[in-house]
Amino acid sequence: MALEKYSVLVVNGPNLGYLGQRDTGVYGTRGMDELSAILKKDHPGLLDRVELDFFQANGEGRIIDRLESAWQNKTRGMVINPGALTHTSLALADCLGWIKIPFVEVHLSNIWSRDRIRQQSLTARHALGVVAGFGIMSYIYGLQAVVDCLDANNTIAEDE
Ligand code: DQA
Repeated sequence: MALEKYSVLVVNGPNLGYLGQRDTGVYGTRGMDELSAILKKDHPGLLDRVELDFFQANGEGRIIDRLESAWQNKTRGMVINPGALTHTSLALADCLGWIKIPFVEVHLSNIWSRDRIRQQSLTARHALGVVAGFGIMSYIYGLQAVVDCLDANNTIAEDE
């Protein structure tokens, strides 16, 4: 049977619109535009498995609106970097909790090696898992994990 191609939304929260230019010592010099190029060059098999959609917003409400529309459109999976909302936004956590789209939370930096307030995530409890500390590669590893988890669920459903 042909492997399913999944619709996956990649979401970036506040202050992640200028990746590659913002605090490059912490977040690196590679921007989101490089993600598709890295996938194409080094991970074509993974790229083949997904229909990617990208979204970035600085406002919490806009992100929640986009997540609700992903739920309406039956988006299969998500890779999310909520930025600072990770540590502060109960509203975003509530949304992720009810829409129940499987997602991996990603961070460019290792949030557990940073200041105390960044070491807690309100959103991660709803995630399949968290990838942090690998710069732009966190998104690639997160995407691979989303696809693997969706495949595993499909296999279980087929076996039942
Ligand atoms: C971040 C970590 C957050 O603490 C910070 O507010 C960000 C980026 C990361 O990707 O490392 O904006 O999510």
